[in-house]
Amino acid sequence: VTEPVSRRRALGLAGALAGGAAIGGSAIGGAVWRSSADATAGPSAGATPPPTPVAFHGAHQAGVTVGPQAHLMAVGVSVAADGPDALRALLGRWTVAAERLTRGHQVAERSPSSRLPPVDSGEADDRDLSRLTITLAVGEGLFGSPATDRFALAARRPPALAAVPPTAGEVLRPHLAPADLLLLVAGDDLQVVAHAVRNLISAGAGQVGWRWTLSGFGPPAGASATVGQPSTHRNLLGFREGTANPHPEQAGFDEGLWVQPSDGPAWMAGGTYVVLRHMVLDLAAWDALNLLDRERVIGRHRRSGAPLGEREELATLDLAAEGPDGRPVTDPRAHVAVARAATTGAPMLRRSYNTAAAGPDDPSGEAGQLFLAFARDPATQVTPVLQALAEHDLLSGYTTTVAAGTYAVLPGTTAGGSWADALLSSTP
Ligand code: HEM
Repeated sequence: VTEPVSRRRALGLAGALAGGAAIGGSAIGGAVWRSSADATAGPSAGATPPPTPVAFHGAHQAGVTVGPQAHLMAVGVSVAADGPDALRALLGRWTVAAERLTRGHQVAERSPSSRLPPVDSGEADDRDLSRLTITLAVGEGLFGSPATDRFALAARRPPALAAVPPTAGEVLRPHLAPADLLLLVAGDDLQVVAHAVRNLISAGAGQVGWRWTLSGFGPPAGASATVGQPSTHRNLLGFREGTANPHPEQAGFDEGLWVQPSDGPAWMAGGTYVVLRHMVLDLAAWDALNLLDRERVIGRHRRSGAPLGEREELATLDLAAEGPDGRPVTDPRAHVAVARAATTGAPMLRRSYNTAAAGPDDPSGEAGQLFLAFARDPATQVTPVLQALAEHDLLSGYTTTVAAGTYAVLPGTTAGGSWADALLSSTP
């Protein structure tokens, strides 16, 4: 008896069926594969090309500008391996594994014998690719200090990692403290996402230690192909999220997001930084607010997402607009007003996911937001906004930050290359 070969077989079969007008679903890889029984449903099923993987290799890592997927698992990992060579080997192995997983393959070639435990746990066999992306970021801990410089990285530490100081409203949980490595694993099928996390951790056995996982859910599968599109989704306050995000067609998008060669350290060129925060919402207090007060706190209309006094979600937010009584239409302490006023340069790119654990005994539970902001320079793009929000934002009365960390998202990789290439290169 041998274990099933790989997800490739299922995908290859589905790809073959596509030629016979057998596959339905969205064009951007969010679709669920039809079984061959479904394929007989008739001509109305239509022919849609098989999903293509989100490209793993490139100048930048995948998972930053792809349209928000339905699920995210952010996984904090400590590195047990010792020395640059061990780190290089670990990251090399993980790059190969991650690239395979995003193409729908099992994490590694199958075990030589069915008397050995299979290398892949198998629960993603026959599942769609689901726009799986696996993004690796490194935390301050990896860079050690001159005294304890396990990986000879102390001189390569990006100063930006220390850019976000603590702010008011944080009640940080020690077990969620920043980790050496952060894996951002996202996709439209939670089973595919969880499979990737489980098998990557297994592939690093002995070299890495799992620290924590923060899981969130976002828009339905295939809602938008790239970030910053008008199709926003709702957070647990019922408001549209992501409206004012920059989008890739906008002038200056790349310059606001990706580290440029002149920024330093040179090895980070093509990477970016991610500020992660897990924020718990006081939904009981929020639910007691009337609609007008909720809209005043956010500074947008709940239903449409439009700025107050406007009808369209994408209408211009005019903080100087006054009502007939001469008072500002948008309260200067509204979330969007404070955030907008504190955004003086290129805006950060927000990719937030909802988190929920509501139950009958505790209706608020741990409902909240897994907030991710990507920026070329967190010191100028994120820190001032965080500080202004902590001080003035009406919404801060309803949020508690329980986890916070800043990570360097490594530059992209080339085919056959490794996440270690830039980090451990000879470039300073
Ligand atoms: C639980 C926490 C949070 C919730 C529920 C929340 C919710 C929202 C909502 C509903 C909007 C309006 C729609 C949009 O443009 O996305 C918004 C905008 C925004 N938020 Fe938040 N947010 C949270 C935390 C944060 C944090 C921690 C930051 C900064 C580090 C932040 C920065 C921003 C920015 C920059 C905007 C766009 C403002 C503009 O220029 O129009 N938010 N947020």
